[in-house]
Amino acid sequence: MQTRYLKLEDYIRTGEISPADKAKIAEAAKVLAEGGLVAFPTETVYGLGGDARRPDVSRRIYEAKGRPSDNPLIVHIADPDGMRPLASYISADCRKMMDACWPGPMTLVVNKTALIPHETTGGLDTVAVRMPVHKVARELIRLSGVPVAAPSANRSGRPSTTTAAHCVEDLDGRVDVILDGGPCDIGVESAIFDMTGDRAVILRPGAVTREMAAKVLGYVPEEDKAVKGPLSAGEKPKAPGMKYRHYAPKAPVLLVLPEAEGFEKIKRIVAAEMAQGKRAEVICSDECAAFLRSNFDNAPIIRTIGSRDDRLSLAHSLFSALRETDTDDIDIIVAEGFSEDELGRAIMNRLKKAAGWNTI
Ligand code: TXA
Ligand code: MG
Repeated sequence: MQTRYLKLEDYIRTGEISPADKAKIAEAAKVLAEGGLVAFPTETVYGLGGDARRPDVSRRIYEAKGRPSDNPLIVHIADPDGMRPLASYISADCRKMMDACWPGPMTLVVNKTALIPHETTGGLDTVAVRMPVHKVARELIRLSGVPVAAPSANRSGRPSTTTAAHCVEDLDGRVDVILDGGPCDIGVESAIFDMTGDRAVILRPGAVTREMAAKVLGYVPEEDKAVKGPLSAGEKPKAPGMKYRHYAPKAPVLLVLPEAEGFEKIKRIVAAEMAQGKRAEVICSDECAAFLRSNFDNAPIIRTIGSRDDRLSLAHSLFSALRETDTDDIDIIVAEGFSEDELGRAIMNRLKKAAGWNTI
């Protein structure tokens, strides 16, 4: 398959959709409406979209990603009214979350209607729904006139894609269109809340945080077990995707949990790895990088992802950094850990998975 690459030049420069951009979005929307596959930007990560109502299209999405077909897809809508045809029941809590946090980086799991086939939901009777805030994503969904099933636009197991260049790396020749709207703002996937029980449950932490949800709901939602730690054999996570290896760069990742004197601890661990003859690379904050650079005679490769005080910048650059390590000649990646409040929770969740829960 020949992939058409459409770049939204004006949107990338100005943040506004020009008539020239709109024509390209319309072209991509037509592809979606006709059952094709389009990689497109959202505020979280790029999505690999197709018509969520069509079993054949869902099968092609799984194929393009190389993803096991029991791992359900998120269905994207352009406005809140799009929820009604997908959900057989919308609870009071679910309505509150929709009103407070949509459009935005939040996905809600609800009981599905017959409109969405089991091929799209990995056999489940529930469906995950998200209304993104990204202008291009919403215009694309609106113009296509269909609910858009879209997993993250990466090959299965790899870090999610946060630029069109990442999408080209993973999906060139596997999708009909790659729509380039520049880098994603947030950089980690949406928060997922299961709204099918008496109380909301967090299935994946994201930029709509537990603290934010608590304010909306009037109680602090629990996290599913698969968010907190590795499951034992036979245990099933509520979000089937959480059981698969994720975000994995080629080299193994060792995640250094934060504690007082944290930079010293990272230095000690890196030095120990290097003393064993291992080529080490560090993914860390600007502050940690400055410390390591001035405290090593023979510093390891260091990849910075932003200031510790700016969680958004850390999230924004995390997946790019993980991807970029693949081109370095290294044996181990040592990653700096951060405190797990607010957006830090989502960042640490992705880091722990990238590390295969290998923490120190
Ligand atoms: O930010 C995002 O959510 C991005 C952009 C493209 O919107 N999408 C995304 O999709 O991250 P994906 O497929 O990579 O992750 C979807 C996660 C998986 O872990 C899956 O198991 C879970 O959502 N999920 C989907 N439908 C579900 C359902 N009905 N019940 C429980 N979990 C579900
Ligand atoms: Mg994904």
